[in-house]
Amino acid sequence: MSEKSEKDIPVNIYRPASPFTAKCISNEVLVRPGAVGDTRHVKFDISGGSLRYLEGQSIGVVPPGEDKNGKPNKLRLYSIASTRLGDDLDGKTLSLSVKRLEYKNEAGETVKGVCSNFITDLKPGDDVKLTGPVGKEMLLPDDPNATIIMIATGTGIAPFRAFLWRMFKEKHEDYKFNGLAWLFFGVPTDTTVLYKPDLEWLAYKHKRNFRYDVAISREQKNAKGEKMYIQNRMAEYADELWEVLQKPSTHTYMCGLRGMEDGISEFMTKTAEKNGAVWKDFEKQMKRDGRWHVETY
Ligand code: FAD
Ligand code: A2P
Repeated sequence: MSEKSEKDIPVNIYRPASPFTAKCISNEVLVRPGAVGDTRHVKFDISGGSLRYLEGQSIGVVPPGEDKNGKPNKLRLYSIASTRLGDDLDGKTLSLSVKRLEYKNEAGETVKGVCSNFITDLKPGDDVKLTGPVGKEMLLPDDPNATIIMIATGTGIAPFRAFLWRMFKEKHEDYKFNGLAWLFFGVPTDTTVLYKPDLEWLAYKHKRNFRYDVAISREQKNAKGEKMYIQNRMAEYADELWEVLQKPSTHTYMCGLRGMEDGISEFMTKTAEKNGAVWKDFEKQMKRDGRWHVETY
C-alpha cells in the first residue's frame, strides 16, 4: 500500500444494496481488425453523486437480470482505467477496459460471460449500476521519484493506463512524476496491444522516464523458440531488474491473468538465486514494505 493515510482512500462509497446509477458515455473498440477477442474502453458519467476513486482502485458493476438460480446477478469487479480526474479531466467520469468473455463449453455451445457482455454491449445513454470503489493494493506511492515497474497481461493494463496518464499526460500542482516507470505488457497479437498509439507516444515523448516492453505471445518467440510470455521479456532484463528492485523506492505492480504469477515467480526465483538471494524471502519483505503489489484474476 502507499503511504497515503487510510482516510484519504475512498472505499465502498456505494454498496450493492444502494448502487450508484451511472450513464455510459462511450464504448470504443480497443483492438484492431483481425484481433482475437473484443476489448472495449467504456466511459461512464459518474457526476450527480459522491463517487470518487484513486488510480489503482476497482469498481463493481452490477449486471441487470438474474443468475441461473433466479437470484439478482452479483457484481463483478473491474480495475479503473482512468485517473481520478477521469478521461475528460473534470472528475466526472470513470473508464474501464473490459474484455468480452466468450467461450465454448463441453457441449460445444458458446457461453457468454454475464457482466463483460453487458458492459461491452453498452450504448451511450445506457444506465449502469456501480458499487465501490474498492482496493488498496494497487495504489501509487506518493513519491514522485519512485521507480514503478508495471507487469500487465491483457486488460491488466487498465490500472497502469491510469498510472501513466497521471504521471505523464496530466499536470498537477502536488504530483510531478520524475522517477522511472517501466511497463511490461503481454498480449496475444500486435492487434491486441491495448492503447497502443498512446503507449508508443508516451515511450517516445518521455524516453528518460518511461520504458515500455511488449511480449506478443503468438507472434514473437522467446530464447527457447517458445511463445514469448511477459516473464520471458522480463528475463531479458533480469540483471537490471534485480538491481532496481534493491532500491527502497522501487514498487512493482502486477495485474491481469492469474496464470502469469507462476511464470513471474519462477523467473524471479532464478534471478534471485543468481544473485545469492532467496526469492520467497525477498518477495515477503517487499510485500511487508508495501513494494510488491499483485492484483490478478
Ligand atoms: P461470468 O458470467 O461471471 O463467467 C465467468 C465464469 O465462466 C468463470 O468463473 C468460469 O467459471 C467460466 N469460464 C470463463 N472462461 C472459461 C473458459 N475458457 N472455459 C470454461 N469456463 C470458463 N475484467 C476485465 O475485462 N477488465 C478488468 O479491468 C478487470 N479487472 C478486474 C479486477 C479485479 C480485482 C477482479 C477480481 C477481476 C477483474 N476482471 C476484469 C474480471 C471481471 O471481474 C470478470 O470476472 C470478467 O469480466 C468475467 O465476468 P462475466 O460476468 O463476463 O463472466
Ligand atoms: P496466449 O493466449 O497466447 O497463451 P489476453 O487477456 O488479451 O488474452 O492476453 C493475455 C496474454 O497473457 C496473452 O498473450 C496470453 O498468451 C498470455 N498468457 C497466457 N498464459 C500465460 C502465463 N501462464 N504466463 C504469462 N502470460 C500468459
